[in-house]
Amino acid sequence: MLRIGHRFFRDSRVTTHVCLTARALGADGVVIADKHDKMVEATVQEVAKRFGGNFSIESGKPWRRVIRDWRGQGGKVVHLTAYGLRLPDVIRDINDVDRDLLVVVGSEKMPGEVFKLADWNVSVTNQPMSEVAALAVFLDWHLQHQAFDKTFPNGQVKIVPSRDQKQIQTAS
Ligand SMILES: C[S@@+](CC[C@H](N)C(=O)[O-])C[C@H]1O[C@@H](n2cnc3c(N)ncnc32)[C@H](O)[C@@H]1O
Repeated sequence: MLRIGHRFFRDSRVTTHVCLTARALGADGVVIADKHDKMVEATVQEVAKRFGGNFSIESGKPWRRVIRDWRGQGGKVVHLTAYGLRLPDVIRDINDVDRDLLVVVGSEKMPGEVFKLADWNVSVTNQPMSEVAALAVFLDWHLQHQAFDKTFPNGQVKIVPSRDQKQIQTAS
């Protein structure tokens, strides 16, 4: 996952939610482009340590370089945008390609170049919405609900699903 356009303070909460949503719904890691944000990194790393799994986070790398390196290693790029092709119309093409995917979301106005560099510009409806919501819907369609069965090994705690209480199992 690549987060472009992150602004200090103003976007901290939403960028954190982008990262946590990516992690919970099956992504392997996130890059916050262009700005080092040690606070967001620390928050996400703390959640990953507590709840387990392998999720990488880094910040500060220029977005062009992230995309160029990704493509250089044979990966494909999906840019989520309200202006893109409809998710139901392109998801089969995306899922048929057996390559690692870099999913790009923005914050403020996205540089036009991103539209050209992406292999797919994909809309989750053609209405403006939150990048967190767009990412969640995309990942659920892409991974076909498999995130519900994903395991997060080596955590300190694990939530036990419950009908009527908050239940947490602590690792022994
Ligand atoms: C809150 S929007 C701001 C978009 C900005 N106003 C612009 O015109 O580029 C932030 C990000 O959410 C994502 N997004 C918003 N609506 C979307 C939609 N309907 N489908 C897919 N992604 C969307 C895009 O990644 C976008 O860069």
